[in-house]
Amino acid sequence: MEHAEFKKYIDQNKDRFLTELFELLRIPSISSDSTKKEEIIQTAEYIKEKFEEAGVDNAEICETAGNPIVYAEKIIDPSLPTVLVYGHYDVQPVDPIELWDSPPFEPEIRDDKIYARGSADDKGQFYAHLKAFDAMSSLKSHYCNVKFMIEGEEEVGSENLGIFVTANKEKLAADVILISDTSMLSLEHPSITTGLKGLSYMEVEVTGPNRDLHSGTYGGAVGNPINILSKMIASLTDENNRITIPGFYDKVVELSEEDRIKIATAPFSEEEYKKELEVDALAGEVGYTALEQLGIRPTLDVNGIWGGYTGEGAKTVLPSKAHAKISMRLVPNQNSDEITKLFTNHFKSIAPPQVKVVVTAHHGGEPAVTPIDSIAYKAAENAYEEGWGKKPIPTRDGGSIPIVALFEKELGLNSILLGLGLDSDAIHSPNESFGVNNFLKGIETIILFHKHFALLKK
Ligand code: BES
Ligand code: MN
Ligand code: MN
Repeated sequence: MEHAEFKKYIDQNKDRFLTELFELLRIPSISSDSTKKEEIIQTAEYIKEKFEEAGVDNAEICETAGNPIVYAEKIIDPSLPTVLVYGHYDVQPVDPIELWDSPPFEPEIRDDKIYARGSADDKGQFYAHLKAFDAMSSLKSHYCNVKFMIEGEEEVGSENLGIFVTANKEKLAADVILISDTSMLSLEHPSITTGLKGLSYMEVEVTGPNRDLHSGTYGGAVGNPINILSKMIASLTDENNRITIPGFYDKVVELSEEDRIKIATAPFSEEEYKKELEVDALAGEVGYTALEQLGIRPTLDVNGIWGGYTGEGAKTVLPSKAHAKISMRLVPNQNSDEITKLFTNHFKSIAPPQVKVVVTAHHGGEPAVTPIDSIAYKAAENAYEEGWGKKPIPTRDGGSIPIVALFEKELGLNSILLGLGLDSDAIHSPNESFGVNNFLKGIETIILFHKHFALLKK
């Protein structure tokens, strides 16, 4: 089949593809919100129906202890290679809602971009795979066997998917895993993500006096947990912005000069980056460029901090408690459990005697790197070259998809991270968007991946 035929099919059906995606985007499948269980099920059912319409052999909803997984497959010929597609239908919460220019679950197109929660992360991206499959079925031109596994708990740690994968190794047997849940540099510079960071996510509670106190009658004499927590957090990085937790960097692989030169060749302008974010200066570990920090250096960020009085006006109070959520993004060969332990011990050790500290760990995950000398990577490169007329650049992302490391461990499979989004899509933020062109070009690129993977596997 000539690729032009696929292009024609996509062009003729693009309105239908978008209408279907909009239906999917209208369902608020927020996995962290326990009141959205019905919407989660509705989403899974909608996806199953769309797989059936697109011509799979069978599609099923696999129950888990949490949100269901949608599984579908089409086996053309056992002698052909098998592509296992992973994606997630759950989305992040929408707050702060007042910053959205249009309601998050009422998708609309402005400036050729689809605005909605989940448009890029990850409904629009995984739906491109479903529509690539639709095109291949309609034109009776499948190159590979395909299995799809679309989960509903990625944004809350994929715990039940891990159990499902371990229990269904045979069902999931494949030659490669294909994922579109990352971003590319730009439409002019396609790129393939070759590394994802790991994650340790901590919550800390600092308690001072047994109750909130009048900040005049007690202030000064009694330790203020918010003042103390602020100092503790400030001490987690030094004057060079290096993380001070003892042992934190012990296993970090230092960059070779060659790696650094490669990273520096990516088309990235610090000036434009600052301009887009409206910041006058960039931050980070002294001695490393922004791209290096983003891709291959571990980082520590406070994600939230609260305590005391935050309502209208002024209330004079010396609070009893202060809290913070702190995440650390990890790089090869750091281990999430180890880092969690190091953080916990260190944070307790730096607490002054005026306060008691409780540290708890939320879900974490391991970093992942995909080799660039594999057949699958070559197929992805060829797909971009044929579809975009440009060789894609390998890049490392700062985000995490913890299940990727588990796929490698449990299924022995590498993942190809065929990201279709852009960093400017504002995932997890207000006004999340996904380019219409990213969606349509993405469908083409996916088909080309299947074609080149089958060719190279011969
Ligand atoms: N799709 C993102 C991960 C991502 C985004 C990777 C952009 C690379 C570039 C995923 O849905 C996500 O948000 N992951 C979380 C971790 C998860 C355990 C909640 C993250 O990275 O914060
Ligand atoms: Mn995602
Ligand atoms: Mn996400």
